Amino acid sequence: TVSALEFTQELSTNPKSASERATILANPGFGDYFTDHTAVIDWKAAEGGEAQWQNARIEPYGPISIDPAAGVLHYGQEIFEGLKVYRHADGSVVSFRPEANAARLNLSARRLALPELPEELFLESIRRLVALDQDWIPDGDGAALYLRPFMIATEAFLGVRPAREVSYRVIASPAGNYFGGELKPVSIWLSSKYARAGRGGTGEAKCGGNYAASLIAQMEGEANGCKQVLFLDEFNDNAVEELGGMNVFFVFKDGRLVTPALSGTILHGITRSSVLQLGRDRGMDVQERKITLDEWRDGVASGEITEVFACGTAAVITPVGQLKSETEVIGSADAKPGEVTMSIREQLLGIQTGTVEDTHGWLTRL
Ligand code: COI
Repeated sequence: TVSALEFTQELSTNPKSASERATILANPGFGDYFTDHTAVIDWKAAEGGEAQWQNARIEPYGPISIDPAAGVLHYGQEIFEGLKVYRHADGSVVSFRPEANAARLNLSARRLALPELPEELFLESIRRLVALDQDWIPDGDGAALYLRPFMIATEAFLGVRPAREVSYRVIASPAGNYFGGELKPVSIWLSSKYARAGRGGTGEAKCGGNYAASLIAQMEGEANGCKQVLFLDEFNDNAVEELGGMNVFFVFKDGRLVTPALSGTILHGITRSSVLQLGRDRGMDVQERKITLDEWRDGVASGEITEVFACGTAAVITPVGQLKSETEVIGSADAKPGEVTMSIREQLLGIQTGTVEDTHGWLTRL
């Protein structure tokens, strides 16, 4: 069967030295450094038959060769995932909810007309890569080895149709704080000109195009001193959707924990779903629903909304200080990180790093 695909393995002949690696791990940043190997599985037709997953392998990390006519380069037929791997004090190596990433990869694959990857192959690709490159797992608050699985259309064909040759790959990158430096509340820019997603579009798929579409708004935000951009649905009473690369939550004084409902245009964040569960565990009144810009503004003004935070695999949980737009500022840039925000963050990181009991079975030993 497909899930029993054997991986072949070609080891890197010039891995980073232990001292180079130690220098990187002492200050990994986000997304700047990559480990020595990569996992690859191809999908194509075998000799006139149906296309299938084949040629599973571990290769040295390095540039890949791709036909200039490959579909991914022209029509953006691409999806990706992000998940983290931690080393616990007892030496075990675990990943956080990898089955949820496997399921979401396939949700994205269906939307982008890419082949689904059996969960067992997804998990095996990660196991194989991490087994070789586990010395790259950093320690430190919020630090982890970030895995980036992705799938691209490699068939050389310029007609617009789903590619018949595809490649799935996994790369790994040691990661500290996504926003760099110490954890502190971030300022968010409200995009009034640009949308990230529309009804029936690709908003809930994790495809590169969504992130490409967010960049111009992100640049506008950075020009205004902000670290992320917030997108609204202007056809739905300015309902809050999500940030350029993460979901958003609101903490209310009365114990409500609110995040925008998954409406088809919002990414199904795995950190998002974990935070909802942790909120329920604490007896908070957890609500996935429509929350508008007006409710945000009024809630902060009246003191009803006490904390706002962003969450994602890369961002973990990051407090939001203020929301800025051309016309207004909601909140304050030098707000202290919220108590509930930081407590949920500590709990989530504790589960991930093995200091808090994993009562939901979220950790998978690799
Ligand atoms: C993640 O949180 O894993 C993301 O994919 C967000 C961003 C780095 C693209």
